[in-house]
Amino acid sequence: MDKNKMEESFRDEAVGHTLYKIYGDRARSEGLEDIARLYYDTSENELSHAKAFYDELNGKEAIEKQMRRAIADEEADARKYHEWHADDGDARLLALSKIEAGHGERFKKRLRDFEGGTDYNCEKPASWRCHRCGFVASGRNAPTVCPLCFASQGSFYRM
Ligand SMILES: [Fe+2]
Repeated sequence: MDKNKMEESFRDEAVGHTLYKIYGDRARSEGLEDIARLYYDTSENELSHAKAFYDELNGKEAIEKQMRRAIADEEADARKYHEWHADDGDARLLALSKIEAGHGERFKKRLRDFEGGTDYNCEKPASWRCHRCGFVASGRNAPTVCPLCFASQGSFYRM
């Protein structure tokens, strides 16, 4: 398959994944659980197709590279929505611009910690929360394993 077809396939599968999630949520909200599950199952299939195309196009990328891409994409979206807001004054666009800029900042902060090796330790005592179960620990280091749900240290973030 040539690169253009692969890129188009990636985008189509990624959009299909999102649409089927939206349609599944809609069906579930109307009490149509079997139809919702049909959408959710198909959505997961589409995601696996998108991942396969993405990996073939990009190879196995380092986490840092993907975080830099996320920062660039979020900042570009923030600028785009800001410009669109300037054009038509729709307040939702300004709100979206701020949210996307905030997403970019979150990734920047996380990347700094990741690259600086300070993801799970810091100079002063801090609170560390487990994403999986909500357990909160205090100290200079995140627990190596969550004492409540046994998630790995990578499940902790500094609050
Ligand atoms: Fe946990």
